Amino acid sequence: MKKVIPFAHDLLEQTINPGDIAIDATCGNGHDTLVLSKLVGDKGTVFAFDIQNQAIERTKQLLDQASVQNVQLHMVDHQYAPDYISEEDYGRIGGAIFNLGYLPGSDKQTITTPESTIAAVDSIAALLKQGGLIAIVVYYGHQGGEREKQALLDYVSSLDQKKFSVLQYAFINQQNNPPFLLAVQKRK
Ligand SMILES: C[S@@+](CC[C@H](N)C(=O)[O-])C[C@H]1O[C@@H](n2cnc3c(N)ncnc32)[C@H](O)[C@@H]1O
Repeated sequence: MKKVIPFAHDLLEQTINPGDIAIDATCGNGHDTLVLSKLVGDKGTVFAFDIQNQAIERTKQLLDQASVQNVQLHMVDHQYAPDYISEEDYGRIGGAIFNLGYLPGSDKQTITTPESTIAAVDSIAALLKQGGLIAIVVYYGHQGGEREKQALLDYVSSLDQKKFSVLQYAFINQQNNPPFLLAVQKRK
């Protein structure tokens, strides 16, 4: 069985086509941004967001090393992601990824919150192309994580099944609050 992040990448690979737009809502160290940039290819664009300068710098460094040129990096709260994408491109959004929690290797003071995470998922879900998918990797072992986990589970469980399919992928016998995946796919 695949670990959670590789499984999330596999799902996104199935829904993001070359030329699409993709969103990394929490770019952190840039690993997911790099994966998305390969999926959208030269004719596509990745919009990557983070609220910490440290994360933006680390992502920029990783992308520069890989000579990636199809990423727009924004130091902005992800709930404002739609403001950075032109309206005519809304139908081209093939996928998005959220990695919740804190920036690995940081002081753990800045974490994702249920309010902005749910606002961002909600607005991006509305803009996805048909068949497009949002992968949310939920880390919840840190302080504040349990509140975000519960709020997100309540939110995604309430999505209209005629419009979205929602998957939870989790290793339920692992100790120490392992991350799990929520995947929200817009139905065709
Ligand atoms: C678990 S890390 C992301 C890891 C990253 N995907 C990677 O591959 O390295 C979570 C990131 O979310 C960022 N973050 C927290 N709240 C945010 C918000 N409202 N909007 C955008 N980014 C946010 C944090 O600064 C942190 O860098």
